[in-house]
Amino acid sequence: MSDRYRELSVELGERSYPIFIGEDLLGTQDLSSYVSGAQVMIVTNETVAPLYLDRAKACFPGKRVDTVTLPDGEKFKDWQTLNSIFDGLLEQRHTRKTTLVALGGGVVGDMAGFAAACYQRGVPFIQIPTTLLSQVDSSVGGKTGINHPLGKNMIGAFHQPQVVLIDTASLQTLPAREVSAGLAEVIKYGLIRDQAFLAWLEEHMDSLVSLNPEALAEAIFRSCACKAEVVALDEREGGLRAILNLGHTFGHAIETYAGYGNWLHGEAVGTGMLMAAELSALEGMISREDCDRINRLILCAGLPDKPPVGMTADDFMSLMAVDKKNVDGLLRLVLLRSVGDAVVTSDASPENLALTFARFCSST
Ligand SMILES: NC(=O)c1ccc[n+]([C@@H]2O[C@H](COP(=O)([O-])OP(=O)(O)OC[C@H]3O[C@@H](n4cnc5c(N)ncnc54)[C@H](O)[C@@H]3O)[C@@H](O)[C@H]2O)c1
Ligand SMILES: [Zn+2]
Repeated sequence: MSDRYRELSVELGERSYPIFIGEDLLGTQDLSSYVSGAQVMIVTNETVAPLYLDRAKACFPGKRVDTVTLPDGEKFKDWQTLNSIFDGLLEQRHTRKTTLVALGGGVVGDMAGFAAACYQRGVPFIQIPTTLLSQVDSSVGGKTGINHPLGKNMIGAFHQPQVVLIDTASLQTLPAREVSAGLAEVIKYGLIRDQAFLAWLEEHMDSLVSLNPEALAEAIFRSCACKAEVVALDEREGGLRAILNLGHTFGHAIETYAGYGNWLHGEAVGTGMLMAAELSALEGMISREDCDRINRLILCAGLPDKPPVGMTADDFMSLMAVDKKNVDGLLRLVLLRSVGDAVVTSDASPENLALTFARFCSST
């Protein structure tokens, strides 16, 4: 590796791994020292392959590099597409010593990671995330999986990568809407754990939206640092890691209501965080000014600040009741004790929850 990058470590004992963040790392960095065998299988999709596959291959000099190219889209994060990764691995005679490489956004990362967790009872894998959301969130922490027709991310495994390579230059080709969606998760880190970062985001949001490389590298670094810290403290979501779900219970309801793919995950989380902030204010935890501040930041990031037109309080209630984060029938929500400090609670009053829906929904 050259010195044109910043490095972080996810501290998980013998499963610890580095995250490298920098501009133009793809194709210029040698990752072969993270590959124990001679074989590499890059899993990517039809959108990302023409943009970055050649450069990704160049990261593994001296290795035999094969490729599986998946169709693009959340709707392909399923069993059949996962199986096509196994087809590729078996047809090309990949052994237990192979290393899988996820080159793409969170969909590719989750599927390649899950394939690595299962293939021959588990082989190593490397994350090369190419969307902002995957760079600040899904590539770090080891959650992998696919969707089931009855629920998102319902089949999966914890499987940590060997290394995460984040090339900020890959974001230059990302559609603006996907950039905004990633920024929702970036804002989340400031809200749950890092007040100083939130203030930094308020100052630099315009630079981030216009893809300024230095601003992006800083935001990604601080986001990954936050995620790495939370994951190191609670790898399997026994407690603390749940704060990473700020806005997600509301957001999942929005995603389901809108139909997967119509609202991007980050867009739904952005609005969801505003609803969580509203409820926090009603519960007497944060101030009205704090809510306004968060609202401004969400809008500045190019994110929606209201649920889909027509979505009612009843829609929220019924969709949130089936959220998988519920334990023993209690609705557990992440709220803000203050800006930069989140808490997981099932104590929010039903009246305040109803009031939150009333304030955000066009009709009930
Ligand atoms: N494992 C986790 O901890 C975790 C966390 C958050 C989200 N996720 C999962 O991540 C997925 C969402 O990830 P996402 O937002 O990256 O979506 P995505 O993977 O669908 O990527 C978004 C779009 O951008 C395209 N793309 C990717 N890189 C590009 C580039 N550099 N230039 C141009 N286009 C590019 C993709 O082909 C796709 O069309 C969901 O399935 C979600 O469940 C997982
Ligand atoms: Zn998320």
